[in-house]
Order: sequence, then structure tokens, then C-alpha cells
Amino acid sequence: MNMETNKIAGAVLLAGIVAMTSGMIAGMLVHPHKLAESVYKVEGVVQQAAAPAAPAALQPIGPLLAAADPKAGETQAKKCLACHTLNQGGPNRVGPNLWNIVGAKHGHAAGFAYSAAIKDKPGDWNYEELNAFISSPKTYAPGTKMAFVGIPKAEDRAALIAYLRTLSDSPKPLP
Ligand code: HEC
Repeated sequence: MNMETNKIAGAVLLAGIVAMTSGMIAGMLVHPHKLAESVYKVEGVVQQAAAPAAPAALQPIGPLLAAADPKAGETQAKKCLACHTLNQGGPNRVGPNLWNIVGAKHGHAAGFAYSAAIKDKPGDWNYEELNAFISSPKTYAPGTKMAFVGIPKAEDRAALIAYLRTLSDSPKPLP
């Protein structure tokens, strides 16, 4: 690894940060996966360059929720039905029942044997926590029993979360 390569990697990283930041300011969708890839290729040694970029790639879901379509979210939710019931009073299956999950505490379902990864998480399932978990369960809660790869697209997660929000007698206010 020589100086030139480092400089190039640095420039690419900086360009990535600038692009992501201005993208956020403009309220536009950048393509964090593309950025992560090019940083990866130039750096070669990877871990140092890729690691800081990863958390920045998960944009806040709050701003997307107002425009999200719960109907599209209902379609996304089919991915969850293999393991979860969504109806009020529905039984726990492979995973816990998800009625009223928005705003519930971690490990909210009575009688479900949660992993420590979920049960011991402080706080509750606010919109951003749900977003992070659904994006990548293993990243959010290492050791979780939820064997689900995650939903990569922010729009799909926003729709899904907007739908989950409706599964309640009194849906929580949007952020
Ligand atoms: C392969 C089975 C499986 C699939 C598919 C799955 N889950 Fe899960 N889910 C689980 C399991 C098991 C747990 C318990 C995790 C633990 O205890 O670590 C869980 C836990 C959860 C929790 C935490 C609930 C609580 O009470 O704290 C949420 C939220 C959740 N899942 C949402 C979803 C959503 C949304 C989807 C669809 C996009 C989904 N899951 C798909 C198995 C699954």
C-alpha cells in the first residue's frame, strides 16, 4: 500500500462522504451501496475503509414514513408471515406476534422465548430501531434468533413500517 493508493482511497472516501451528506441535505436518495463498493475496490485492504461507511449508509427512516404506502407495506409483510402472526391476539410462532409492535418494548410478547440479544436491548421499538432491525437483524442484534436476511431497500422498509404502525388500536404518531 503506497502513498498514492492511500490518497486515492482518501479522495474516494471524502467524495463519498460529500456525496452522501449533500444527498441527505437535498433530501434525495443516494446509492450508499454503490459508494461502499467503489471505496472497497480502491482501498483493497477493505476493513478500515468499508467499516466507517457502513453505519452512514442507513439513512433515517423518519422522513420517508409520511409518504410511505401502507398497502405496499402489506405486501412486504408477506416476508414476515412465515414466522410471525400480525393480528391482534395472534399466537406466537417461530417469532412473536407483532400486533402493536411500534412503540412496544423489546421482547414485548408474553410467553415468547426471546434471545438475550433482543430481550436485553434497552428502549423500545421506535421507528428507527425497527428500521435498523428489519434492515439487518444480525447487525442490529448480534445473536438474534430471527433468521431473516433483512430488507435492503429503504422505501420497502418505510412501507413495511408504515403498515406495521397500522396494526394497533391507536397507531403511534408519525415522527
Ligand atoms: C425465519 C423466521 C422469521 C422471519 C421470516 C421474520 N422473523 Fe421477526 N422474529 C423471528 C424470531 C425467531 C424473533 C425473536 C428474535 C429473538 O428473540 O432474538 C423475531 C423477532 C422480531 C421482532 C421483535 C419483536 C419483539 O417483541 O421484540 C420484530 C419487530 C420482528 N421480528 C419483525 C419482523 C418483520 C417485520 C419481519 C418481516 C420483514 C420478520 N420479523 C421476519 C423470526 C422471524
